[in-house]
Amino acid sequence: MLEVRDHKDACQEAIRILQIADPWQKAIATRRFVAKWREGSLPSSPHNTELSDHPARPERPELWSPGKMPKRRFGNSQGRASLIHAIAHIEVTAIDLALDMTARFAEQVLAETNYELSNEFIGDWLSVADDEARHFNLLSERLSAMGLAYGDLPAHSGLWDIATRTMDDVLARLALAPLVMEARGLDVTPGMIEKFRKYGDDDNADALLVIYEDEIGHVAIGAKWFRLMAEKRGQNPVAHFRDLVVARFPGGLKPPFNHNARFKAGFGREFYENLCP
Ligand SMILES: [Fe+2]
Ligand SMILES: [Fe+2]
Repeated sequence: MLEVRDHKDACQEAIRILQIADPWQKAIATRRFVAKWREGSLPSSPHNTELSDHPARPERPELWSPGKMPKRRFGNSQGRASLIHAIAHIEVTAIDLALDMTARFAEQVLAETNYELSNEFIGDWLSVADDEARHFNLLSERLSAMGLAYGDLPAHSGLWDIATRTMDDVLARLALAPLVMEARGLDVTPGMIEKFRKYGDDDNADALLVIYEDEIGHVAIGAKWFRLMAEKRGQNPVAHFRDLVVARFPGGLKPPFNHNARFKAGFGREFYENLCP
């Protein structure tokens, strides 16, 4: 149990929002929560709810295994809409990942560091959750401009697997969620933006550019906490990152990498190069 009251309140609020199935309500609740945390006006939680390993999910979209998802083509508007739908799904899962990071690991960070740092840990991951909620809203607006809503198409079930593989350890979670998956987003997004522009779809390209720039910040927050927590444990951050990826992400990391964006995020090549199976 956290010793500090406002930490417990933040974790309880994160747990509550993880159990909201409706993604629009989840995004609203997240943004409201983060605003209150920033103002220092989070109300005291009367609850003591256990954190579940499974956030609530809406009935739609139907979740398919990644291998079953159809190939998307940029050349027609349906293909581009289905890509935006897929990214909207990633953003909903990313809200949950950031809230789960807070609720699951703030106590571990407090035990291994101090109150100020665990407070900063919560603040950093809540700011990521706020960005992800904003990203979901942005893509939800893009979908409605294209005559679709989130949930209309199937989505793939893969991203939460990263969370289930790393429930036990903050360093494993930091390695796999921001530093493998979100960093992968930095590798692939510029190419997608270029393709949207090529087909004259500037509205979607502009939305992805907003997201891309924010995601550099998320990788930076991941790299900052990975280094800090590894050093607190007396581990070499680079060697420990590589060990964790080998042990828990057997597919390995595949180039091409966006070295420039990764470098901007403080995540140097020594971490991720030559980690292919
Ligand atoms: Fe995002
Ligand atoms: Fe993110």
